[in-house]
Amino acid sequence: MVTVRRFRGSDTGVLWALGALPNVGETADPTVAVPLSPAVGVPSGFPDLADVEGAFLAVGGEFLVVELDGHLVGMGGFRPGGDGRAEVLRVRVHPATRRRGVGRALMAELERRAVAAGLRALHLDTATNQPEAMAFYEALGFVEVGREHQPGWSWTLAFYVKALTGVDEAYDVAAPAYAELFRDSLRDSPLDRAILGAFADVVKGEVADVGCGPGHVTAYLAGLGVAVFGVDASPAMIGLARQAYPVLRFEVGSMAALNVADGALGGVLSRWSIIHTPPPEVPAVLAEFRRVLAPGGHLLIGFSAGGHPTQAYDHRVAPAYLWQPDHLAGLLRECGLAEVARLVCEPERSDPRQYKGVQLLARRA
Ligand SMILES: C[S@@+](CC[C@H](N)C(=O)[O-])C[C@H]1O[C@@H](n2cnc3c(N)ncnc32)[C@H](O)[C@@H]1O
Repeated sequence: MVTVRRFRGSDTGVLWALGALPNVGETADPTVAVPLSPAVGVPSGFPDLADVEGAFLAVGGEFLVVELDGHLVGMGGFRPGGDGRAEVLRVRVHPATRRRGVGRALMAELERRAVAAGLRALHLDTATNQPEAMAFYEALGFVEVGREHQPGWSWTLAFYVKALTGVDEAYDVAAPAYAELFRDSLRDSPLDRAILGAFADVVKGEVADVGCGPGHVTAYLAGLGVAVFGVDASPAMIGLARQAYPVLRFEVGSMAALNVADGALGGVLSRWSIIHTPPPEVPAVLAEFRRVLAPGGHLLIGFSAGGHPTQAYDHRVAPAYLWQPDHLAGLLRECGLAEVARLVCEPERSDPRQYKGVQLLARRA
């Protein structure tokens, strides 16, 4: 029988023995006896296992062990990073007990406790020389968000993230900090102001700013004389937008199902709001934008660009996706929105992510 429980000090020796068992690919030996004798020293590379209590539990994290018929056969923990996310570490399953649900039981309980602790996401790394570990995490809903290879490494690290909350809840938590950070951002962005100015010039009729966040861009367009309202999935964002710009209209809503009649709008603005939509769902969102636009209406859509058609990346608030501009322009075209212009901004030198910022202006035929 598989049971999962919190680490106890008396587990330490066996935990060290489990950590010391080779576990990568062919090195994992399924004939090792299940009862492990306690080791006398911490396995190399795992200094935090010297003091599980201090390294995991005392910092608001968790460390669990799995028992199979009374023997300790699995372990793993998480440590919060202070940003609502926690790193999953030291996940190990005894090689003789693989494919018996040990890893799944461990991860399910870690995730349940992370949710109970109010965490928004779990992240971890594994390596490309452990394809079975990558497949395991992917089956649990972790999304690969990047890789790292360094000279001298015979492996490539693969980074994974799993969101524990919806995008709306994630932005509810982030809303005050986001508003503070971005409220005045247009002041220092002449290129953003330029494309918003062009958009304001070409739109005729009402505009929806979908995924408007704290409403600063909605207000900028209103200042240019555009009849504009904001929609966002996050009630906290909408609360802040209403507070900051009380004369404008802001509504909680989903951009996948806008509360707007067919062909009612002259424009749709979507700045970095489709980035959190899983790529297979994006065509339906674009079709929704087209539905609400009048013939000749314009869409201005902003996103961060990557070299693959689409690719997950590690966004600070919620998992997000980069888009290759031509690929997204192709999807727009397929749903009747023809590209008119695009603005491609190189990343700021100081930006650690180094993604280009792209804004496509498209017109409904
Ligand atoms: C990166 S922020 C961008 C905010 C704003 N457009 C700007 O330019 O600063 C993404 C916003 O999109 C919202 N959002 C994400 N998915 C959404 C959806 N399906 N429907 C409505 N809003 C969504 C989030 O709540 C968040 O406020």
